[in-house]
Amino acid sequence: MIEILRTLNQFDVFRKNLRPGTIGFVPTMGNLHKGHMSLVKESLRHNDNTIVSIFVNPKQFGPSEDFEKYPRTLGRDNQVLKELYRQEEFKGKLLTIFAPENPEEVFPPGFSTRISVGDLTNKLCGTNRPGHFDGVTTVVYRLFSIIKPHKAYFGQKDYQQYLVIKKMMEDLKLDIQLVPMPTKRDTEGLALSSRNQYLNKDDKLVALSLPSTLESIKELIRNNYWPESYEKALNSASMTKESPAWDYLEILDAKTLEEPTERTHTIILAGALKVGKTRLIDNKLVEIKYAR
Ligand code: PAJ
Repeated sequence: MIEILRTLNQFDVFRKNLRPGTIGFVPTMGNLHKGHMSLVKESLRHNDNTIVSIFVNPKQFGPSEDFEKYPRTLGRDNQVLKELYRQEEFKGKLLTIFAPENPEEVFPPGFSTRISVGDLTNKLCGTNRPGHFDGVTTVVYRLFSIIKPHKAYFGQKDYQQYLVIKKMMEDLKLDIQLVPMPTKRDTEGLALSSRNQYLNKDDKLVALSLPSTLESIKELIRNNYWPESYEKALNSASMTKESPAWDYLEILDAKTLEEPTERTHTIILAGALKVGKTRLIDNKLVEIKYAR
């Protein structure tokens, strides 16, 4: 059995009485898929206690975004977690779900603080989703202070989110270890996402141009010396950029999200593609070499 805590009071009591040992935390908005589960598995493996939060955070959705229709599937999520938890490997571990029954459990009336990280949040997804990252950092900080974990697990599928949270933790000197996890994909290469279920068959074909474009740019860059391949890669990108609705398709320094320079070691190829009303994001990291 996995205990599901639905209020802040319940959680506080649970947390006070939690048995000793390390606490791993996996923040999610639910509708769990294999991407989320890879984070939960990693936390279960390396911690005595794992807490998964399931909370669709209103602060990170814009007014015209899918907050209302975001899939809420707590029963199914519980089931999926139960199946994982049953495995022999996790015997002796404690897995608990914190699923606040309404937003006021996390943001009580009168809550007025906003955590805003600055520069990193103004590019890529920040451009067309103003306020989104402030919503993410505010809820993550708040969840950190409620849960008080030793480690927190984040997926690199949302690479900018990971970087923004990392910066918040450095700036605010939070004593929590941040663990980045690789992107899980379906057999065709599409990064798993709760939003994939909005796609019909035709949409899916368009959606696949997101990972395939990133992959072909990655190949171009990997097979050439940087920066000679830069122009080539961008040209190839702009060819494919024309057809579907790219929100962005960029090649940036993976540490700073600025234009790459000679000091860049790793670049990020980041894309956001609109397929119908659904917006999908993906990225690839590439280490670069220089011509002598
Ligand atoms: P959500 O989209 O539910 O994702 C929860 C965590 O799962 C994030 O760290 C995300 O990067 C990771 N994840 C999602 N898809 C993945 C995939 N295909 N492979 C690996 N990891 C994947 O991200 C959020 O929720 C929210 O912004 C949150 C951090 C919970 C704050 O509200």
